Amino acid sequence: MPSAACPTLVPERRAALERVRALASERRPRHSLPQAFYCDEDVFAVDLERVFKRHWLFAGHVCQIPRRGDYFTWKVGADPLLIVRGADGAVHAHHNVCTHRGSILTDQACGRAGKFVCPYHQWVFELDGRLASARHMPDDFEQPAYGLRPVHVRVLAGLILVCLHESPPPFEPYAAAVEPFTAPYEMEKVKIACARRYELRSNWKLITENFRECYHCAGGHPEYCRAVLGSGTDHPVYVKDDRAAVWADRTAHWKRLGLATGSVDFTRERWYHCNRYPFRPGFVSQTLDGKPCAPLLGRLPDRDVGVFAIVSYPQFWHESSSDYFITIRVTPISATRSDADVCWYVREDAVEGRDYEPERVAAFWRATAEQDWKLGEDNQAGILSSAYRPGPLGPIEDGIEIFLQWYLDQVTEESYAPGPA
Ligand code: FES
Ligand SMILES: [Fe+2]
Repeated sequence: MPSAACPTLVPERRAALERVRALASERRPRHSLPQAFYCDEDVFAVDLERVFKRHWLFAGHVCQIPRRGDYFTWKVGADPLLIVRGADGAVHAHHNVCTHRGSILTDQACGRAGKFVCPYHQWVFELDGRLASARHMPDDFEQPAYGLRPVHVRVLAGLILVCLHESPPPFEPYAAAVEPFTAPYEMEKVKIACARRYELRSNWKLITENFRECYHCAGGHPEYCRAVLGSGTDHPVYVKDDRAAVWADRTAHWKRLGLATGSVDFTRERWYHCNRYPFRPGFVSQTLDGKPCAPLLGRLPDRDVGVFAIVSYPQFWHESSSDYFITIRVTPISATRSDADVCWYVREDAVEGRDYEPERVAAFWRATAEQDWKLGEDNQAGILSSAYRPGPLGPIEDGIEIFLQWYLDQVTEESYAPGPA
């Protein structure tokens, strides 16, 4: 049986793909997936190859590596990665794998280096991946051929995205959709006010499904529903909103301010989404009391710019208020485990204690995200039961159906060309 520890054995990979196709054919439309999609290591191996090794993944933010030589590492499935600010000031991404006999170059989560020296036999690599020296190799050794294997990397509004596949999906449509929204936030000129890692007992798809519907909001997110228009609409406290009128009024306000409005929606093919949506009256930030918690970001002209959100499959979420934003990076660990890294950002010249308090910046999304993690873990626990059967999706869960169609396309597509093992 294949496992995440050995995902590259070709016959096993083929068998796993066939199994996933058979499972997918059993899926009833507009229902949650058959059990194996949430807990089977065969399926997880296919998820890694077809989804995580093929698509653009959010790795981190440029403010984590402000100086030349600053780096951080991240592991996606069996692939350790190294993201570094080069001597040229650009962001580079490499496989964290020595081209001599394969040692990882560093086991540190982050650090700063002039060059990378392999701990095994001390081959030395430049920040841009070129092999600088290799001790005791013969005169005819082709040194230029042994640079670190590169990983595709793009920086969008300070967000670092990587793709492990040799032919990544087109990035430009994503950038074109997002940049009109991000420009006034100057999202690259920020620093991290707070960061937390959550080790979750749930399959990565349950996290994505949870974030694609607000059916659970009324019962699960009191703080979010108090703040955000349109959430919790079936809850007696929130039904009184004149949603259409507030939405129209706020949209007109944002247009007068010159801000991007509207929505770029997921489709079966489109793997990203961004939009702006209003707060409830009385809120100007995603804080517990609705009041600001930090100085305005970038060159935003007003406190009430609503919430600007970006989501990209399979593992990235972002929400901005006018004074801070969050990123959520999900890392698949196994069929039933995922890590979620949540970061909160404020403008880079904000002074802690004077301009913001990290706990206050973090409080709203700490509450909301931790509520979601619990819902996801409870969902996983029930799915593992022999009593689980795929259940029906309501119209309010259309976002899940669109995600699942996209996902099933990825894992069943015949014409897919595997990337480098
Ligand atoms: S494995 Fe890196 S120098 Fe030998
Ligand atoms: Fe939620």
